[in-house]
Amino acid sequence: MKSVVLLLVVAFAAAASAQCTCKNMKWATCDGTPCQCSVMVGDGQSQVLDCEKLVPKCFLMKAEMYRAKKGLSTRTGGKPTEHAFVDNDGIYDPDCETTGVFKAKQCNNTEECWCVNSAGVRRTDKGDKNLKCEKLVETYWVRLELKHKPVTGQLDKTKLKTAMENAMLERYSLPKNLVADVDYDKDARLIVVDVKKDKNDKTQDLSRMAYYMEKDVKVLPLFQNPAKFEPSVEGQKLEMENILVYYVDAEPPTFTMKRLTGGVIAVIVVVSLAVIAGLLVLFFARRREQAKYQKTQVRELDEMQKSLS
Ligand SMILES: *[C@@H]1O[C@H](CO)[C@@H](O)[C@H](O)[C@H]1NC(C)=O
Repeated sequence: MKSVVLLLVVAFAAAASAQCTCKNMKWATCDGTPCQCSVMVGDGQSQVLDCEKLVPKCFLMKAEMYRAKKGLSTRTGGKPTEHAFVDNDGIYDPDCETTGVFKAKQCNNTEECWCVNSAGVRRTDKGDKNLKCEKLVETYWVRLELKHKPVTGQLDKTKLKTAMENAMLERYSLPKNLVADVDYDKDARLIVVDVKKDKNDKTQDLSRMAYYMEKDVKVLPLFQNPAKFEPSVEGQKLEMENILVYYVDAEPPTFTMKRLTGGVIAVIVVVSLAVIAGLLVLFFARRREQAKYQKTQVRELDEMQKSLS
């Protein structure tokens, strides 16, 4: 009898510990009753997580930087408005509020700082550590440009929208009403999903689902479950091969010149030199013209004087 009870207790404990995992963050370690999970975000720094929700992007980026530093594996249609921008900087070690919200000013542990939006993406030029970032500007609209792998047959746009809404609700708990629009270009195999919330709504954080989706498509899922993100349209699974995310903030970004590449700089130099050369030619031509004019005047005067005398 005693041994049966013991066996039951052991079985129960095993079952309970199997339950104690973080389904939304595969790098998390979990322990205890009640089950508590956390992830390493710096040396001797661990962040407690709420595994029932998507983990804030700020915590995810910190965890990713930490893992990259430790040599651990981290593999796991155009602009919507003229103010939309993509994340060209990539990952940095962000400063997070205790709630997981990005601090408005980020410095990546250096003397060089910049201001970010609520998705943690740079929206100003870089400056020194005295840079002022008044407030965290909300990203209220993200455009996801997904390229899917070839499929057989035609995809119906309306059915595609429903499929995307369902897949995003199921995987990222994204309320369907936030899927504002789904556009489809069958030749480019491009699905453009606009996820939009009210400009003043701070309860929804669009950056989390965008980040989880980016990882799903480009690397490997952050979820415990290694299944892919595969919306299904009329029984046909859509596998994604690439994603581009645009961010639209409640206020336009304040970059001065967006990334001048070497090529652009070379063109500017050549054009400037041509303009200067042109101006010099004009200047000398006018000087010559004036000199001629003066000579003629002198000659005319001479002739007048001659005729007068
Ligand atoms: C942040 O710093 C790390 C090195 O510590 C570097 O690899 C990374 O590119 C930096 N990111 C940005 C956005 O400056």
